Amino acid sequence: MIVARTVEEIRAAVQQLRGNRPNSTVGFVPTMGYLHEGHASLMRKSVEKNEISVLSIFVNPIQFGPNEDLDRYPRNESGDLQLAGQCGIDIVFLPSVDVMYPQATKTKIRVAEVTEGLCGASRPGHFDGVTTVVAKLFNMVKPDRAYFGLKDAQQVAVIQQMVNDLNIDVEVVPCQIVRETDGLALSSRNVYLSDEERRQALVLSESLQMAHSLIREQAAITAGELMDIIIKNIQAMPLANIDYVEIVQYPSMERFAASVQLPEQKSDILIALAVRFGNTRLIDNLYLPYQ
Ligand code: PAJ
Repeated sequence: MIVARTVEEIRAAVQQLRGNRPNSTVGFVPTMGYLHEGHASLMRKSVEKNEISVLSIFVNPIQFGPNEDLDRYPRNESGDLQLAGQCGIDIVFLPSVDVMYPQATKTKIRVAEVTEGLCGASRPGHFDGVTTVVAKLFNMVKPDRAYFGLKDAQQVAVIQQMVNDLNIDVEVVPCQIVRETDGLALSSRNVYLSDEERRQALVLSESLQMAHSLIREQAAITAGELMDIIIKNIQAMPLANIDYVEIVQYPSMERFAASVQLPEQKSDILIALAVRFGNTRLIDNLYLPYQ
């Protein structure tokens, strides 16, 4: 496994492997590290579909707000390299902040509309930071396919929109959410949770499961009714502080009117939650593609 730390090194490494393996495709998995099985599922998918797979690990300062957890974001470089190796990654890109942002950055990429609700509303500027760093990483790695988890469903929609609008020659591959056996969605931030917070955090996946059953079983449930049920369920947990509960169309992220009957909708539905436990903000969602 090649470890690249500068722009020159990552370009040279990709070029070298492409040269050694003619007609090969490059799969790319961008991450912020502290890797877990969710990240591993993306890496394995890339390795399965592409002759060359690149992982990037970069805690991107410009996607964190002033009061967010940039300074205490968990890191584990040696553990990450070990997992990347086990998954069959060929190149790991580990740039420093100076490598990614060598002088005061003057260009930002902003996707409109799709970024306005949900995490975009509670984390102003967050998606501008995400699209800017992902565009830079795409330009450095030049992948054929890039793998993103639906755990961050709005992020997938935003990046797909950027790729379409800027004619970036990359196939965005959305990947299913990986969960603990009890249902909690894997996240690097789960390590912050106390035992009691961890127990109560199950309310996220449980509320989504309940919403799924209600949509399947009840012909007449409205978006507003479902929102109320989910909110009450989460509020029953004393340590839970709701940031948002949203029921939106995917990938436009447009909110459904409270009166619409959800089971009748002829579009993809996303039910997305963000809930704080102490200082830890967790997100989870249920994606229901229209069949
Ligand atoms: P990070 O939070 O490290 O996540 C990297 C990728 O792993 C994302 O595509 C995310 O959706 C996916 N992922 C995280 N938890 C997952 C889970 N439980 N199941 C499936 N996939 C999961 O997302 C970012 O980093 C950053 O915003 C980034 C895109 C790297 C830009 O800085």
